[in-house]
Amino acid sequence: MTGRGAEPDVELLVESARDAIEAAETSDDIRAVATAVSGKRSPLALAHRSLGACSPEERKQRGQLLNQARSEIEGLLERRRAQIEAVESRAAMEADRADLSELVPGTVVTAPGRGHLSLVTRTRDALEDVFVGMGFEVAEGPEIETDWYNFGALNIPPAHPARGMWDTFYLDLDPPESTLLRTHTSPVQIRLMEGAQAAGRLPIHAVMPGRCYRRDTPDARHLAVFHQVEGLVVDEGITFADLAGTIEVFTAAYFGADIHARLRPAYFPFTEPSAEFEITCTICRGAGCRTCSQTGWIELGGCGMVDPAVFAAVGIDTERWSGFAFGFGIDRCAQMRHQIADMRVLTENDIRFIRQF
Ligand code: PHE
Repeated sequence: MTGRGAEPDVELLVESARDAIEAAETSDDIRAVATAVSGKRSPLALAHRSLGACSPEERKQRGQLLNQARSEIEGLLERRRAQIEAVESRAAMEADRADLSELVPGTVVTAPGRGHLSLVTRTRDALEDVFVGMGFEVAEGPEIETDWYNFGALNIPPAHPARGMWDTFYLDLDPPESTLLRTHTSPVQIRLMEGAQAAGRLPIHAVMPGRCYRRDTPDARHLAVFHQVEGLVVDEGITFADLAGTIEVFTAAYFGADIHARLRPAYFPFTEPSAEFEITCTICRGAGCRTCSQTGWIELGGCGMVDPAVFAAVGIDTERWSGFAFGFGIDRCAQMRHQIADMRVLTENDIRFIRQF
């Protein structure tokens, strides 16, 4: 075999590859043609492999020719592949096109599913309605608070042992532990009293719902991000009987007459005397279950008479004014109202749970 003699067969090889490539119509065709004309078993590959038998001089010349042939074939393949792809993607888009002008007679068009407010939001709204019906106004405050509003003004100075009652998320700001995610809605009491005192707008009858945060491990009755509603009354001649009566009226209005409330002595730095406010567990109706830790009662929150130290922090005259405050969990209310054994479902977004409300 001479170098010269090799040329016509390489040309032939390119010609027959060109014919096969041009005949390809679909991407399947072009894939098969690519294997046939440039794959491992193609005449081109075989020709390459046979170079080993040639003399060094011949090998160099023929090798060059074969490399040129390969790049020409690859170029042809590439061009044809692009053409086929363009045609096929245009056809796919055409097939996908929705003809919106056509109305098929007798077709029932179903509306897409509509969402609704979350159970917690609806519970908050329902609680607000109950309290507005009892003569309370609704107020709000920030979720990011200073140490003063969340603790200091509530008679919980730095290093006070009662701070342990609220495991706190602090913001990474200077000075350390000066700014935090509020652990309860009680700081809104302070903001409200400060504002009312400054503007001469006492008395106050208000509820303050909102989101709170605690470094708690979620369990059947707790979430680290949860909601509270705070209540505050500051007026002349307010007594503990007003507080107890308010809680009783609220419980009957929201949970129904068969659910009982009780107050148990407790301690909060910002109220004196203080009480914990519990209702009959609605899961077991008082018999004892896992949700209420076998006690038959569920703690909704705390309450008490506003401590004189708190009035002093906001400059309210205790000779004239007295008041009570309460704060309880909105998520806990939703749980008890709808007999939800484990509160964590409120944040899990399981559509089977959500659809029930
Ligand atoms: N802020 C208290 C808590 O979250 C509840 C409370 C509010 C207690 C108002 C007394 C008065 O634990």
